[in-house]
Amino acid sequence: MKILPRLVIGNLRPRYPLIQGGMAIRVSTGRLAGSVAREGGIGLIAGSGMQPDELRREIRIARGLANGGIVGINTLVAAAEFMKVMETAVDEGIDLLVAGAGFSRDLLNLGQRAKVPVVPIVSTARLAVLAESLGASAVVVEGKEAGGHLGTTKSSRVLYPLVKEAVKIPVLIAGGITDRADLLEVLAMNVDGVQIGTRFAASHESNASDAFKQRYLQAKEGDVFKIHSPVGLPGNALSTPFSDRIAQGPVPVEQCDGCLKRCSHVFCIVRALIQAKDGNLDKGLVFAGEHVYKVKEILSVAEIFRLFFDGLEFKDA
Ligand SMILES: Cc1cc2nc3c(=O)[nH]c(=O)nc-3n(C[C@H](O)[C@H](O)[C@H](O)COP(=O)(O)O)c2cc1C
Repeated sequence: MKILPRLVIGNLRPRYPLIQGGMAIRVSTGRLAGSVAREGGIGLIAGSGMQPDELRREIRIARGLANGGIVGINTLVAAAEFMKVMETAVDEGIDLLVAGAGFSRDLLNLGQRAKVPVVPIVSTARLAVLAESLGASAVVVEGKEAGGHLGTTKSSRVLYPLVKEAVKIPVLIAGGITDRADLLEVLAMNVDGVQIGTRFAASHESNASDAFKQRYLQAKEGDVFKIHSPVGLPGNALSTPFSDRIAQGPVPVEQCDGCLKRCSHVFCIVRALIQAKDGNLDKGLVFAGEHVYKVKEILSVAEIFRLFFDGLEFKDA
């Protein structure tokens, strides 16, 4: 089947048209990003919540594994240290800058100055057009199926054609691409590429704890529900004792680190994500995409690439 597009983002030409989405806090670290890059996709380290030293270390770990493959960084615009993280990554020679949960002109300026491609994550054609006019090299259109924070209630399948029609730069689709059938479905829509999170969070190379990954394996269709994040956006998550607690009312923290530009303080999202990543689901929030129920086993990154791409050929091959 000759259906795979060749993805070009600025000067970057990954072998496969796939970005492994950035997953905070510390779910997608250097090991996962480097392994994805080595297999021919673009691997993203989630920089949100990392101090410069840690970020530099993770970028070097990724480079060590990537065998010359493409390694990028994703940071939430909502993070107080957003630009500091991105500037550190540029200084460390990162290949690609991806911004989630918000829109940043400063990042697009940084990309232009440093000659590093910038890819904003958007949920509307209007923002995609703005991103293109400010020099974005591509956009990711993320729909309501995606794991993590959400900027829309609409499906990625509905949003994609609207965005694709509005811009000339490559448009990748994110949200609900978890197995081979999902991939074939979106390739039939003539997408330029895909960004995938959930399937990689459940890989051996993901930095999430076994308890986190086991929670994914227990998920059934319809289990993912929306939490109201203190960032001011909804987010897709699986239920845990902690998600039950925050549904009852605020769970304020004793000490606030001021890690977000704006925070409602109903609970600490950073601590909740770290607890889940570390396996303390009693105190943790497990972000996951709506198609998490399709994850039946924990695979290696190499196995996930085979699952998605074996037997598929490039359109121009
Ligand atoms: C555990 C988890 C954490 C995430 N954290 C971030 C993040 O820090 N920044 C971001 O832009 N997107 C984040 N996302 C979204 C992913 O990068 C990606 O766009 C999304 O997972 C795609 O949808 P899928 O999960 O259905 O594959 C996260 C997703 C998951 C599952």
